[in-house]
Amino acid sequence: MRHLVTLDDLSNFEIEGVFRLAAGMQSQLETWAGICRSKLLATLFYEPSTRTRLSFESAMERLSGGTLGFADPSGTSATKGETLADTARMVTNYADLIVVRHNWAGAAQVMARYASIPVINGGDGSHAHPTQALTDLYTIIRRKGQVEGLNVGVCGDLRYGRAAHSFSLAVARFGGKLIHIGPNGLQMPPWVMTRLDKLHAQKPLEVARIRDVIASLDVIYVNRLQEERLPPEVNPAAVRGSYLLNAAVMKHAKSDAMIMHPLPRVNELSYELDDDPRAAYFEQSANAVPIRMALISSLLGLEQLILTQPPQRSIAAAENPCDNPGCVTHHENYLFAERETFGDMFAVCRYCGCLIAG
Ligand code: NCD
Repeated sequence: MRHLVTLDDLSNFEIEGVFRLAAGMQSQLETWAGICRSKLLATLFYEPSTRTRLSFESAMERLSGGTLGFADPSGTSATKGETLADTARMVTNYADLIVVRHNWAGAAQVMARYASIPVINGGDGSHAHPTQALTDLYTIIRRKGQVEGLNVGVCGDLRYGRAAHSFSLAVARFGGKLIHIGPNGLQMPPWVMTRLDKLHAQKPLEVARIRDVIASLDVIYVNRLQEERLPPEVNPAAVRGSYLLNAAVMKHAKSDAMIMHPLPRVNELSYELDDDPRAAYFEQSANAVPIRMALISSLLGLEQLILTQPPQRSIAAAENPCDNPGCVTHHENYLFAERETFGDMFAVCRYCGCLIAG
């Protein structure tokens, strides 16, 4: 059984297989209808969502499967104190596959541990959003043919944006050249920068203003300020509106650049760009359906050629818990700290991915 908690759960070969299957499903929707008949997808959304939940439900129902779940945890036993582990064990009895979104980093990893069915991470705190990153890469490849060699600017709240984290790591894995554009205090966190450096030999240029780099970019990936996750020391009013991609900025961009955004947009991406042929964000949200169709059928084992050999990982018990207050290990007290090591280069918390000593 395979899970998709972070992109580390898939090899590049498998990701390319998912893209091929998604393209097939996108071009011949009817052929695939029926493949998930009698299968059920549980969508457990402890945090707000429009695109992720609806595109997963759309994907499952287009494959003739059924869906159940919740979009508001206030109506569930979470309010009575039920743990993620117990919820995972219960849902195992009610569905064949779980998609979970949660405000704690590592929550999907906990569910994957305790469920006996595949678990997909639909976004965990400010950690990761792997299915969004797959949708994003797929969108780039459909427009540009490949990611390798492209100059990819990732702009906005890079510190708390889980979509930005998974996207940067995915771009690096497929040979894109990253440039990080983040306001002061909201730059890419050390765990992402360390992985980029040690695993992909990239030390992305970091700038504060998009104007300084816009002319060199093939892809401009904008992210909103993650206001719901800002710590008390960051004043949202000071950063709100501090970056904006609009027509005036795009005048200096390449004529074949791509504008991307995981959405929702708030005030960082101007509506005046919606008719610009370089805008790819609505296409990006549409591509979420075939990508999620391909992932659902692969993880359910219905498309057996896609998921072959899981990447090798080195995971062991850790002496101390990580120091990330947003990590699930600080909220669910039955969990034991675990670390994943990358040779003798660095170690991370198995759950939230933050760097740990040793
Ligand atoms: C993203 C998320 O939830 O992380 N949304 C999405 O799934 N498309 C990005 C965001 O909320 O800013």
